[in-house]
Amino acid sequence: MPISPVPPLPVDLSGIQLDPQQGLARQLYQALRERILDGRLQRRTRLPASRDLASLLGISRNTVTRAFDQLYAEGYIEGRIGAGTYVAELSAATRPSAPPMVHASDNPQSAALQLLQTHHLSPPLSGAPRAFRVGVPAFDLFPFETWARLSARFWRKPSPARLGYGDPAGDLQLRELIAAYLRNSRGLHCDPAQIVVTNGAQQAISLCAQLLVTPGARVALENPGYRAAGHALAIAGAQLCGVAVDGEGLDVPALAQLEDCRLVYLTPSHQYPTGVTLSLARRLQLLEWAERHNGLIIEDDYDGEYRYSGTPLAPLAALDRQGRVLYVGTFCKITFPALRLGYLVLPPALAEAFAQRRALDMRHSEIGTQAVMAEFIAAGHFQRHIRRMRTAARSRRDALLAGWPESVPGCAPLPVVEAGLHLCVRVDSLARERELISAAERVGVEISALSSYWLPNSRTPEDQRAGLVLGFAAVPEAQIAEALQALRKAWQL
Ligand SMILES: Cc1ncc(COP(=O)(O)O)c(C=O)c1O
Repeated sequence: MPISPVPPLPVDLSGIQLDPQQGLARQLYQALRERILDGRLQRRTRLPASRDLASLLGISRNTVTRAFDQLYAEGYIEGRIGAGTYVAELSAATRPSAPPMVHASDNPQSAALQLLQTHHLSPPLSGAPRAFRVGVPAFDLFPFETWARLSARFWRKPSPARLGYGDPAGDLQLRELIAAYLRNSRGLHCDPAQIVVTNGAQQAISLCAQLLVTPGARVALENPGYRAAGHALAIAGAQLCGVAVDGEGLDVPALAQLEDCRLVYLTPSHQYPTGVTLSLARRLQLLEWAERHNGLIIEDDYDGEYRYSGTPLAPLAALDRQGRVLYVGTFCKITFPALRLGYLVLPPALAEAFAQRRALDMRHSEIGTQAVMAEFIAAGHFQRHIRRMRTAARSRRDALLAGWPESVPGCAPLPVVEAGLHLCVRVDSLARERELISAAERVGVEISALSSYWLPNSRTPEDQRAGLVLGFAAVPEAQIAEALQALRKAWQL
């Protein structure tokens, strides 16, 4: 596309270091692409002429031309002979995230390291939970004695039929019980044949990425949103298209504006991390979008069991009559994260492919946890435990709401919290966000930064991305009160 001449912008190419032992053109291509994606090279920045860049880096002009050719081909740069080379206009919504960097010319080691750099997932905080850790349920309440008893009973005399290679979709008894639970408690009618047991929601999302994303395909997701889902989709080659979230959840009209996008990942019951619930009008619009575009929806219902007024919402999948929703569920927010047990409910046409893909990864989930969970559900412990966890989370939420300082300068009032295990409160600026979180850290209180949940290169102004995300379920009320006391001091209120 021809571009109108613009005054050349200063271009900072500092830090590009090329290893003469490796393919130089590819290294240069990667270095420039990384700078374009992370915004160090802004749109419409004029790049130096290939001859100048070659002499600056001490490489041949031919090498630079090859790197530029690749960037042209992938749409990162534009230009005309004689008019110079410019960074392309990539809107934030369409700016591709880096596809996986495995190329025949790379050695496998460098492909792995590259993956680490581009899709690094900060490890969740580990160790004993503290206030206000996000993503952690009240696992101090888990009935370990019951679990130990059921586990001992299973292992004392396991049925030989369950000790060989099992069904890659997961233990049949467990899948039948999950189907019954979803039908009775969540209004989601499905057949056990539609269920694939996974190692938690993350693996379910990752399987969706492996099976549904073709390299370069555009995939929409909430922005801000669950970054680990974005990483899983991006390493499968997706171009991530962030879609705004407002008071009704994902902005479906904005999604509908994206061209060539037929897959969306979202958290309808309790948007992660803002806490908004997708309105019914948006749910219906979203299903209509999927039908119109022949699209698919990945519904991550990671904490759907936690609803504090009325019964849990029926998932989007329960409204789906067209086989367009892939439902992700997890036991990790009702039991404890380290259990690593979750599941997918798939449109019937996709179930077999997912089970097969699962088999290639790891055959199937380990039988002990599946079998004990099946017993745990069959004997009624699971339902009882859900009720216990919901009551505890509500009471811990109340402790946070009641004890939160009346006004924290630069911080919006706490929202009404009807669902989930965390809440999100907006802050005036990034500087204030940092200040509040650092002060909290100094007194041993964990608060997550809302700004860390945004996709890189988001168009939303930086200060509007600021906020605090607080998990309220991780520790009992007394510890919440202590943490709030410490916060008042740290924030000098
Ligand atoms: C939105 C969302 N989805 C999925 C997960 C992952 O859940 P699991 O532990 O089951 O993999 C999390 C974990 O915090 C989450 O916040």
